[in-house]
Formats: sequence, structure tokens, C-alpha cells
Amino acid sequence: MYDFHPYFTSDGSVGLYSPIYNDIYHSATGALTEANEKFIDPIQCRKYLNKYQVKVLDICYGIGYNSKSFLQKMYLLTRPYTASLYTNNIKDKLSVYTNEIHADNILSRISVTAIDNDKNLAFLSPFIKTGEQNIKNEKFDFEYKILEKYLKNDKNIPKPKIEKIINFLLFEKIALNYPEIFENKDIETILGNKEYSRYFDDEIKAVFWHYKYTTGNFNPFEYNQSFLHNIYYNHVSKCYKKRLKRYKLQDIDFNFKTGDAREIIKNDRNTYDLIFLDAFTPSKCPILWSYEFFKLLYEHLEYDGLLLTYSISASVRNAMAAAGFFVGNNFNPAKNKVIGTIATKNKYLIKYPLSKFDLGLLKTTAGIFYHDENLNGQNEAIIERRNLEVQNSNLMTSSQYNKKYKTL
Ligand SMILES: C[S@@+](CC[C@H](N)C(=O)[O-])C[C@H]1O[C@@H](n2cnc3c(N)ncnc32)[C@H](O)[C@@H]1O
Repeated sequence: MYDFHPYFTSDGSVGLYSPIYNDIYHSATGALTEANEKFIDPIQCRKYLNKYQVKVLDICYGIGYNSKSFLQKMYLLTRPYTASLYTNNIKDKLSVYTNEIHADNILSRISVTAIDNDKNLAFLSPFIKTGEQNIKNEKFDFEYKILEKYLKNDKNIPKPKIEKIINFLLFEKIALNYPEIFENKDIETILGNKEYSRYFDDEIKAVFWHYKYTTGNFNPFEYNQSFLHNIYYNHVSKCYKKRLKRYKLQDIDFNFKTGDAREIIKNDRNTYDLIFLDAFTPSKCPILWSYEFFKLLYEHLEYDGLLLTYSISASVRNAMAAAGFFVGNNFNPAKNKVIGTIATKNKYLIKYPLSKFDLGLLKTTAGIFYHDENLNGQNEAIIERRNLEVQNSNLMTSSQYNKKYKTL
């Protein structure tokens, strides 16, 4: 049976837990909040409104919060009224209005390449309910102490939301490009399980069951847009019918690739404007944080592109810098806190450079990075090799550096 452990995070969005890694996929203080803060807010999304094509590479797509949050943000920028509800900043409101004309049909100019080694998660991603759950009613029955720890200090987190239209469009794309979703037993079991129903959107589920059982064999080549929309018209509430009319099947170019991100990117010839790197923590999953992997990502980033990640680890930042990137902080002024890292080839895109302290830290043992020469090593071996390098190093440790820095 497929391992699926959902729970509601504190902003009302669904998070997952991985027993294999004994780690959470999403911040328990808010999966969607985290996606916005760490991956979307630092991007100047408005600058992409006039771009002919915006290419996004979402590494470790999971249930898709980062891509969805980006699509949502771009979508809202084209809908000034809705967007204005989401911001109190007058400047933001005005620029939203002035961009309206150019922004028309932005979704059709966005192309998302999503990579994850777990195909089921991508299939489930359009069904995940976001921003609609009253978490106070949630009964936390998990044995995962790790979550409880996070959930204590979460009281006043605002509740973000993904517009349902984004999930509908994503579902359409998956249904057309990956018809095997309708034959997938894990998906069928999970979507049919009452235990999980509070995590999924009933309307999108109804469309899934309709395809699966009412329309007989699913064959994407026999489907055309009007047929798809006819199905929606039977199952979808009025409010979404109206919006779906405005958007068409081809609106999002969404490609999902299953497998090890290293292998997939090695064989990919594209370059991207935005790369989201959301792998499990470097100390558990270093294969996606090595110097060699960052060199590979360097080749896949446009000159004005941005690589974003939640990690602020010195070893990750040092590997990025060694691979040729300019590296900066993702600083959240509202929280007065550094919450991630941004890497780019164009140094003028770095808004918050690394501090003197950060740069010094890169030269300590904490800055020793992971190696994976042929991009096919195993996590354990890569960790062991780095541990040995740290042990044999003459560099200062980070705690020695901390002490020394304080006395300066
Ligand atoms: C922290 S979660 C990412 C959460 C995700 N961004 C989301 O919005 O749901 C890490 C993801 O990495 C995937 N993963 C782990 N190792 C991988 C690898 N070598 N290549 C591709 N994906 C990998 C896992 O399946 C998991 O979905």
C-alpha cells in the first residue's frame, strides 16, 4: 500500500510526512505560506508579465505548492481586483492595474517542468485542498512528535489559498498528458478512502470519477476541449464554470517527469528562468545539494534567472558559489529574518547579499560541500565522504568561528 501521510498544517493547507526520511515535506507552520515566502515572494513576479515565455523548473515537485503558488501569483496579477484583495500595499495595487493589459493570458506563456521521483504525488497534486480547512477542528492523530513541536507556535498565521482554477487546469493537463492516472490503483485507493476525503477537493474528485467510470476508457486522443468542458459543466459549481470559460486547456504548459532529478536534468537541454529546489534537507538527501549538482543547475539557468531554495546551509551556499553562482539571502523584511537562499548568474539580481558573517562561515568546516562526481552517488556514501573531509580538515569549525566572530 502506498505510504501517504497527510495532515493539515497551521495555515490550513495540507502537508505530508515521510516515514522513510522521518521528515516532513512541508513546514508544519504552513505548507502554502512556506511556498509563498521561500519561493514566490522573493521573485519580482511582475517582471515576468511581459515575457514571451516563462520557464520554471520545479525540482522536487511533491504535491506542487511551489509551482501552484507561482501560477497563482501570476494569475492574480492578471486579475487586478482579486489581486488587490491580497495586498495592502498601494504601490503593489497600482502596478497590478497598470500591468493588466500586458498580463492578459499570462498562463499560456508559463511552462512548468516538474520533477519528482514519486509520480503519485504529482497525480494527487490537483486534488489537494488548500486554504479551506478550519484547522481548529482538525484532530491531530499522528504519532509524529516532530509535527507537534512545529505546531505549537503557529497561532496567528494568515491563511493563504490556491485558487481552484489553478488546480482544475492542472488536473486537465495531467488527465490529458498522463492518462495512466485513471488506471493507477494507488490513486484510486487514496481518492476513494474516506479517511483522506477532508484533504481533497470534492469537485475535482468528481471529475476524476466521471472520467474513470462514466466515460469508459480514457483516451486522450478522443478528447477535445469542448468535451472536457462539457464534463466540467456537469460537475463544477457555477462560479468555476464562468472562469473555466476564460481559460483553455493549453493555458498551462505542464510537464511532469518522474525519476531522479539528477538523471532527468542531465538529459534536459532547456534553460529556465526560475528553478525551485525543494529537496529534503541536505544532511539527509545530499544528492540534490552537491557541488556537481549545482554546476548542472548553473548550465540550466538563464542569465537573468533565479535559483531559489529554503536552505541556508553554509555547505549549500559554498557549493553554489563554487559552481559559479552569485549567492544572496532570501530576507523576509516582515519577519526580519533570512529564510532561504537565492542564486543567480547576474549579480545585480541579488537584493540581499550574504553578510560578512555568512561569508566567513563558508570558510569554516560548515562550508565544506558534498561531492557527487558522476551525479549518481548514494546519499549515505556522499554523507560519509563529507564527514571524513570535515574530520580531516584544518579549517575552523563553525562554533570556533562563532566565538571568534563575537569577539571581533
Ligand atoms: C520536501 S519534499 C518537496 C515538497 C514539494 N515541493 C511540495 O510542494 O509538495 C521533497 C520531495 O523530493 C522528492 N525527491 C526525493 N529525492 C528525489 C530525487 N532524487 N529526485 C527527485 N525527487 C526527489 C520526494 O518525493 C518529495 O516529494
